[in-house]
Parts: sequence; C-alpha cells; structure tokens
Amino acid sequence: MFETIAPVYEKIYGSDHTNEPLKFFAPGRVNLIGEHTDHEGGYVLPCAITSGIYALANLRDGHSLRLYSLNFDDDFTPFEIDFNDINKKIDGSKSWVNYPLGVVNELKKLGINFSSGIDIIYNGNLPGGAGLSSSAAIEVLTVEIFNRLFNLNINSVERAKISQRAENNFVGMMCGIMDQFAVSTGKKDHAVLLNCSTLEYSYVPLKLGTDKIIITNSNVKHSLAGSEYNLRRQQCEAALKIIQSVKNNITCLSDVRPSEFETLASAIKDPEILKRARHVITENARAIEAAEKLRAGDLKAFGKLMNASHISLRDNYQVTISELDILADLAWNINGVKGSRMTGGGFGGCTVSIVEDGAVQIFQETISREYTKQTGRKADFYILDTSDGASQIF
Ligand code: GLA
Repeated sequence: MFETIAPVYEKIYGSDHTNEPLKFFAPGRVNLIGEHTDHEGGYVLPCAITSGIYALANLRDGHSLRLYSLNFDDDFTPFEIDFNDINKKIDGSKSWVNYPLGVVNELKKLGINFSSGIDIIYNGNLPGGAGLSSSAAIEVLTVEIFNRLFNLNINSVERAKISQRAENNFVGMMCGIMDQFAVSTGKKDHAVLLNCSTLEYSYVPLKLGTDKIIITNSNVKHSLAGSEYNLRRQQCEAALKIIQSVKNNITCLSDVRPSEFETLASAIKDPEILKRARHVITENARAIEAAEKLRAGDLKAFGKLMNASHISLRDNYQVTISELDILADLAWNINGVKGSRMTGGGFGGCTVSIVEDGAVQIFQETISREYTKQTGRKADFYILDTSDGASQIF
C-alpha cells in the first residue's frame, strides 16, 4: 500500500520535506454481537480487521494542515487549512476531510498547540459505506499521526474517546464509542469485550477451530449520519426517562435486566419506544452471554445468539433493510452455518456469519446466486482476518 502512496506524497508535498514521512495504519472493525448497545452503556464484542486505512504523514514549516486521500481525490491538489481556521464543517466534494478536521478540533480543545504544519496522505482498502468503520479508522489514524508527530502521549483509550468526540461534535453523527474503541485497541486473533459505561475491556480469544467468520457485503451503502441513527438514540433516551421515573438506580438502558424489563415495560406506552428499549436490553444480555460462549469455545451457542440479535434488530430496533434480512435468511438455511446477523449500524452494509469450513464454498455460492436473484445486487465476501489496533508502522 505504501508503494502506491509514496510517489503521490512525493509529487504533492515532496519538495517541502527534509525527512522521510512516517507510516501509519488503522484497521476497520466488524462487530460480532452487541449492536446498538454502546450508546446505551452496554457491552459490545467487535474485532479489528486487516482491511483499513494507511497514511503517510510528516511535519512541515508553517501553520497549516494539508490533507489528501487517494480514495476521494484525483486532482493532486491537497485540501489546505490553517489550524486556526478549523472550526466548521466543509461541504461538497472534500467533505471527507471533516473526519480529520473534527479530530484536530478536539485536539485544540485539549489545549494542544500545533508548532508546525502537517502533511498527510490517506489511502484505504475498506469498502466505503459498508459499515466496517472507515470513519472511525480515519479518525483514530489522524489522532495517532498527531500523537506521534507532536509527541502528545495519548494512550489508546484516549485516542478512541477523542475520535468519538470528533464524530459527535464535528461530523454530527451521534455514534457510541464501539467503532473508535475497536479500531484503537483491537488485538489480532481476539475480539474486544467492552463495557461502554465504564470503558473497561478485555480480550476474548477467537477460538474458531476450523470455522470461519465470513463478512458478506450487501453492497447497499448505509447512510448513518442521516436521521435514523440519531432518531433511534432519541427514542432510547425517551425509554430511559420513563424507566427512571418508575425505578431508581438506573443510569442507562443497559442497567436493566431482561427479566425486570418485562415488569417495567407497561410504563412505556409508545409501542415504538418500547421496542427500541426491548432491543437494547435483550441485546446487552446476549452480548454478555455470547462472550462467555466464545470464551468456552461454544460456537454453536454463540451462533444462536447471533441469530437472535438479527431478529431483534429487524423487529425491535428496525435497522435492518430487506437486503440484510435476505442475506441472514439465506445463511440460516445453509447447513454448516452456526449463526448470521447484520453487523454495524444497519440500513445497509454487511452481515457476519460463522460458517463451518466445509460449508464455506456452498455458503458463498448459494448466497451469491440467491441474493442476486432476489435483489438484483451482487454480494461480496471476506473471510475475517483480525488485526491489532491503529499504530505507526516501522
Ligand atoms: C455504528 C456506530 C456505533 C454503534 C453501531 C451499532 O457503527 O458508529 O457507535 O452504535 O453503529 O452498534
């Protein structure tokens, strides 16, 4: 990847540098279970993946930031902005820069002074809009670039928090912390079990035996920054307020156990808000149980929880679309598939499935054929390959 970026870096920024630029990488992520629980203080179980975003970056004389992406730009003209002028979103064809600008904006709030300019070129191999967290990857990557170039001593948890704030405050997407956390703290051959209330986390080894985890891209691009994601959060907030009015000591929806929810449910009169709460509360319990099953190597039980997760996202949280339902349905009907569910925010993107080695070929063939027949679209498949979190590459 750096062989592709280096000549462009040289062409665009070359003459202004004395040192070689530094190399960086941030992975994407796939969430195994615990969907739409992060913003409600619950548990999530994502993995960092080997596809992600790479960057070359270096300091330069001056007081401006120059940004260029091989994924979005083709005019060899970087976007340039003085650090002092970074305070509002950019519209139009360069709107991808809002992710790095949001990061710089948050670093400024921490009182960090930028003693020189910075040049960055990004290039990623994550499919865009597929729900594999290209946004979190570019945010965490940018924090890491500033971290190294200005010796800021930011640890991986702080890096995730800064990135989430960039997305909430600058981009305007009210995401939870799962994506940035997975991208920042991920570990090869492990999933990250994160308590989103306390940010305590542990690594769960991916004991897959001969099974494979397959990510299937519906090739329907999600548009999460749109109203639906933020609307779901508001509905969860409304549910929480009602529950708090009838029960003490509840700080977030994920504090409620599924058994006690059934007695609290009658207080929630709006059927839509009730469903949103039911999803979060049951999904949180599923995530905790699924992590135990994974630790015990019980992939069969894990897979059943994945299926239940999809059904709840479809019927209660209502963020699946017909393409994701078709992919899950097809998978559930193939022998040797232990579980399958949509992953990420929903409204497009990917499913994640546990498939026995001997069924991988039939899985891909059947789904390719039937998905195209039913939707007119093509599905893409990636066998999960996990990665460590974002870092400088030496
Ligand atoms: C998106 C958000 C995350 C999380 C998931 C759903 O990926 O960025 O914070 O809420 O949706 O689990």
